[in-house]
Amino acid sequence: MISSRVERVEESATMKSSKRAKDLISRGVDVINFTLGEPDFDTPANITQKTIDAMKSGETHYSPAVGLPALREAVAQKLRTENKIDTKAGNIMITPGAKQGIFEAMMTLIDEGDEVLLPDPSWVSYDACIRMAGGKTVWIPTDPKNKYQPLDDLSEFITPKTKMIVVNTPCNPTGSVLDKSHLLEIADLAIDHDFFVLSDEIYEKIIYDKKHVSIASLDNMADRTITINGFSKAYAMTGWRLGYLNAPASVFPSLEKIQSHSISNVTTFVQYGGLEALTGPQDTVMNMQKEFKKRRSVLVDGLVKLGLQCDMPDGAFYAYPDVSEFGTGAEITDRLLEEAQVAVSPGIAFGESGKNNIRISYAASVERIEEALIRMEKVFS
Ligand SMILES: Cc1ncc(COP(=O)(O)O)c(C=O)c1O
Repeated sequence: MISSRVERVEESATMKSSKRAKDLISRGVDVINFTLGEPDFDTPANITQKTIDAMKSGETHYSPAVGLPALREAVAQKLRTENKIDTKAGNIMITPGAKQGIFEAMMTLIDEGDEVLLPDPSWVSYDACIRMAGGKTVWIPTDPKNKYQPLDDLSEFITPKTKMIVVNTPCNPTGSVLDKSHLLEIADLAIDHDFFVLSDEIYEKIIYDKKHVSIASLDNMADRTITINGFSKAYAMTGWRLGYLNAPASVFPSLEKIQSHSISNVTTFVQYGGLEALTGPQDTVMNMQKEFKKRRSVLVDGLVKLGLQCDMPDGAFYAYPDVSEFGTGAEITDRLLEEAQVAVSPGIAFGESGKNNIRISYAASVERIEEALIRMEKVFS
């Protein structure tokens, strides 16, 4: 009855952990929930206000499928100045979240049997989107001893069917930020073997001591890269469903077909909020980043004191400790919830390599992180 396309995909394991935690919370249990992939801050007030103004002034009709011209121009301007990507408004599509942009890119480029290179571990939805599009995921190893950078020689994973590689920097779940040298290697391979790059840069603003580099800014890469980004993480706008992509002219009209036949357009007044986010004051972004940095130290230092192996992540808001001294990631996830009422996600959700890891989202206050570390002693002692 259900299409094989959908049968190929399983429910997200991170969603499962999150549901379990929320279920307990709704029954009155004091669970500290570290499963969430969303900032715990409110959307900045100037963004909300501009959206209300737009709604009140009648911006409640369809917009062009690819987005409001002013927002596409603002995104293009941002990508040119901040990300050094040579682009223009005509290459920008406004999407209902980065996730839909990823789905549309996969549906546009991947044919039945095409192979997509995906770093192990990776965020859960890439593999699901690849499968729904009929593609095959080829997991490529990363090096946990070198902050999850890809291994030096990726060429052995490339075949005539390789259509795309996924790059996610800063990375969910590891927090790894790819070095420019690795991005250059990936770019060389993509050019030599003629495949596309899907570059998900949703965590670019949550980066600590390193500098974000967009692979589309490297020589000859703009023509073969779809850059994905959005407002969810940088501006605490997860519920708004607002993102964007930058695509080369060779694929843009095909992406537009999917968008116009599926969603028509992103909610018009929400796009005005995005315009304000990009063109208004940026101090809230900096403040959130500072707060995340503080939490990162409290959490990672605490985990190391508990005897876990855990690198200081360079970006995003996740710690990804190795818990193998105490059990598998899945066992420890269960024990933390049952014995300490601390909810985390098992590393296996992100790929085979994660079986000994757990992912802890530090989108929670310092007080809650400190409380969780005390509770965790029950399991890690
Ligand atoms: C790596 C990555 N990409 C994309 C998304 C989805 O972002 P959006 O809310 O813009 O759809 C997430 C959300 O958790 C993510 O972790």
